[in-house]
Amino acid sequence: MSTSCIVPVSLSERSYEITIKAGLLERVGRELKKQGVRGKVGIVTDRHVARHYLKKSLEAIKRHGLDPVPIILPPGERSKRLKTVEQILDVLARHRFERSSMLVALGGGVVGDMAGFAASIYQRGIPYIQVPTTLVAQVDSSVGGKTGVDHRLGKNLIGSFYQPRAVWIDPSTLQTLPAREVVAGLAEVIKYGIIADASFFAYLQRHMSALRRQTPGIVAAVVKRSCEIKAEVVAADERESDRRRILNYGHTIGHALEALGGYQSLIHGEAVGIGLVQEAELACFQEICSRAVVEEIRRTVKEAGLSDRMPPWTPQRIWKAMLHDKKVSGGRVVGVWPERIGQVRIGPIDKRVFERWYAVSRGAPHGPV
Ligand SMILES: NC(=O)c1ccc[n+]([C@@H]2O[C@H](COP(=O)([O-])OP(=O)(O)OC[C@H]3O[C@@H](n4cnc5c(N)ncnc54)[C@H](O)[C@@H]3O)[C@@H](O)[C@H]2O)c1
Ligand SMILES: [Zn+2]
Repeated sequence: MSTSCIVPVSLSERSYEITIKAGLLERVGRELKKQGVRGKVGIVTDRHVARHYLKKSLEAIKRHGLDPVPIILPPGERSKRLKTVEQILDVLARHRFERSSMLVALGGGVVGDMAGFAASIYQRGIPYIQVPTTLVAQVDSSVGGKTGVDHRLGKNLIGSFYQPRAVWIDPSTLQTLPAREVVAGLAEVIKYGIIADASFFAYLQRHMSALRRQTPGIVAAVVKRSCEIKAEVVAADERESDRRRILNYGHTIGHALEALGGYQSLIHGEAVGIGLVQEAELACFQEICSRAVVEEIRRTVKEAGLSDRMPPWTPQRIWKAMLHDKKVSGGRVVGVWPERIGQVRIGPIDKRVFERWYAVSRGAPHGPV
């Protein structure tokens, strides 16, 4: 693929473009001007990202006569809460940001979710642009307009649907990303292959080691295809009433494991990696897919450097954590089940089926079915 490409996100009057281009960060001032931005631009970022990219971004913006206001947040999931959003709002109010002022989210999913949420509520909504700098953010969180923060009773419990004006992806920013975060992002990438595109899945299998070494052409191609799939799913169902739910594959168990580990022992993508394999196991147990499908998924997840193994929580605790998830509807856990690579179906699962599967798969005394 060429070194620059555009993926459209079609949402009628909320449509926008994802631009993927190495070196895009240096052109951020010019791109803002092209968007018709004048005056103040709030740059929301975190301390880690600021260390690598803030100076460069501020210079690129000032070069084009704009007035950037940096807003530097503490990094990590723990800062994704209302208090931190309040800090963003305080700066916007102090600097007299107006309805037409622009916010830029420069960072990973945590920064993007909070900056987007702040943009959605400040003066009932100001425009914002996503400039994602992690693999998770480049292939997932920056696209689709889900914004928000965690509550002590649940992840992403508070938020809004609010689409950005544009998404600008500079894949070269991944060079400074810690290896653990790159590997975590691969879980979301593998997910796209399983839910929507068998030939992309095969491509990932063929190029996994090049991807882990961050070979530029491969990384850009993978980010592009992932964005295309996410954009297509979001365009079909912006507010997650139906098709968008397929994006939750791996996340039913994944979110439960993430929560049980206090968002520390497993980071999001690591928990999703386990979820991809274990939810395929559950699909196989329910006779939705063959064992061969499970083993393909397991092999790919392991080759990405992710774990496929369930941590030693009891099935009761995992089920309880699954019930806490937002995806529960009417007290039932609704999962996404692979039928084969490239195709999934959505369906409820019963607590007894989950516990029977768990017992059988652990060889526990109360199994087999
Ligand atoms: N809105 C959505 O649709 C959506 C989708 C998926 C995930 N999410 C959310 O995204 C969050 C996870 O995002 P994440 O994985 O990007 O985590 P993150 O934002 O916490 O970033 C991970 C770490 O990498 C650092 N970092 C970011 N870019 C860097 C770079 N280029 N170089 C060096 N360090 C860098 C960050 O400071 C942080 O320490 C979760 O809160 C999750 O709920 C949202
Ligand atoms: Zn995810």
